[in-house]
Amino acid sequence: MAFEEKIKQLLDLRVQTKLGGGEKRIEAQHSKGKLTARERIALLLDEGSFEEFDMFVTHRCTNFGMEKKEFLSDGVVTGYGTIDGRLVYVFSQDFTILGGSLGESFARKICKVMDQAMKVGAPVIGLNDSGGARIQEGVNSLAGYAEIFERNILASGVIPQISAIFGPCAGGAVYSPALTDFILMSKENSYMFITGPKVVKTVTGEDVDEARLGGAQVHASKSGVAHFVSENEQEGIQMIRKLISYIPSNNLEEPPVFDCNDPIDRLEDSLNHIIPDDPNQPYNVKDVITGVIDNGEFFEVHEKFAPNLVVGFARMNGMSVGIVANQPNYMAGVLDINASRKGGRFVRFCDAFNIPIITFVDVPGFLPGTGQEYGGIIVHGAKMLYAYGEATVPKVTVTLRKSYGGAHLVMSCKQLRGDINYSWPMAEIAVMGASGATAILYGSDLKKMESEEEKAKFIAEKQKEYEDKFSNPYNAAKYGYIDDVIEPRNTRFRVIRALQALATKKDNNPMKKHGNIPL
Ligand code: HXC
Repeated sequence: MAFEEKIKQLLDLRVQTKLGGGEKRIEAQHSKGKLTARERIALLLDEGSFEEFDMFVTHRCTNFGMEKKEFLSDGVVTGYGTIDGRLVYVFSQDFTILGGSLGESFARKICKVMDQAMKVGAPVIGLNDSGGARIQEGVNSLAGYAEIFERNILASGVIPQISAIFGPCAGGAVYSPALTDFILMSKENSYMFITGPKVVKTVTGEDVDEARLGGAQVHASKSGVAHFVSENEQEGIQMIRKLISYIPSNNLEEPPVFDCNDPIDRLEDSLNHIIPDDPNQPYNVKDVITGVIDNGEFFEVHEKFAPNLVVGFARMNGMSVGIVANQPNYMAGVLDINASRKGGRFVRFCDAFNIPIITFVDVPGFLPGTGQEYGGIIVHGAKMLYAYGEATVPKVTVTLRKSYGGAHLVMSCKQLRGDINYSWPMAEIAVMGASGATAILYGSDLKKMESEEEKAKFIAEKQKEYEDKFSNPYNAAKYGYIDDVIEPRNTRFRVIRALQALATKKDNNPMKKHGNIPL
């Protein structure tokens, strides 16, 4: 073959690869409102930055007539490119080829990008759209999944791993995304479950459709499996690009720093009036967050799951921070099982990737009752406690209002290595609220009283006494548990100064194989 012909052969092969499973299947993909694997990569990466690996890989299976169903690239597009100039590795499952099903060669391709990403310290982004294990390849498909899982596990805490679900993700296939740091699901066409509606019907008799069993809304609000939901794939891809902007490329690097045009000493007067006079009145803690962070730009994680705790990324003077805040607007900001799981996982991500944590506290306590106890609030609450206590990144805490009991300790208190703990003057830092405390302390006195009037008067007096003593931040400040009581409108400046002071913080945990977090 002459050289020109060889070059033509290469170019023809490239054209053929780019057609995936063929024009008809691409049309079918588009008709469902879905993009192809390559279109997704083109949107995700900086223009012209994609370098593809393994486009000539095919499967080696001959079962069930598979030798006649050979496609270049074998159903997954892999390689590397950049997002805002920063290196990322990517794999994108191609549903147009054998339903994006995963066999031996397919899995090897994914493993190759994961291995390289680990060597160079760059994030891996997986775009999932697959019928799961390729049935014709039998145990080789299963082995392929396990190879990926093991890499997900070893990469955890070393390089960021992000999964987008843009189609089916069923069976054991769900566990690779589940092992990654963040899962994004598109509202259209995406679902995740360990068994589909037909198997559910057979095993439990339950009638349920795909969306209700494992659609984006379900995983975003009920299970917490999905951290982000997008209206469509395009929006989802932009969200991943944004997420990448807040996080470092690996655990040895710092997050990128951006120019900040929001004055660091900006006074936010509204914060002086945001806490209602009535301590039982709610307010929206997101107004506090947006008032304090750079330009009010908050990138929320797990927005619809456990809204009694708000977590997400922001910048302070251009530096990435993780925000954790109780939300008085929802269930009074109480900590329950889901909020604890959510907060614990977010704190651990920030700690693994050198992102300082700012905690805004307004928490009445842990949610009581059999529902929570039977569900294991003790163990789940301990997750959050463990995560904060283990975290060695800079931790700045601002107590806005209530901070009671065990929940006070969990929310980055001084003794869990909170570095700088501030409080607003309206804060109440105590073992519990005034009414609960007086009922316990004076229960026997109350029993002796006959008239309701007398009881009410006595309770009011004792509550006032308790409030005077404990419903303020100065009692905690007296013992040094609070470093300073600050004016709310000055919070941005004080927190930025704290972060600047902590920028060179060095702290370690004892050497060990790994801790035993209460899972
Ligand atoms: C081989 C598969 C496949 C699979 C789909 N295809 N899934 N081929 N192995 N797992 C093929 C189909 O045969 C079809 O090929 C093409 O992909 C498109 O599939 P359709 O069914 O026509 O598409 P659609 O109607 O959109 O349905 C998509 C689907 C359905 C819902 C994903 O294909 C499906 O239910 N697939 C099986 C899902 C599943 O149970 N997978 C195994 C899960 S268990 P042709 O050539 O006919 O067009 C698992 C274990 C992992 O994954 C364990 C890891 C530890």
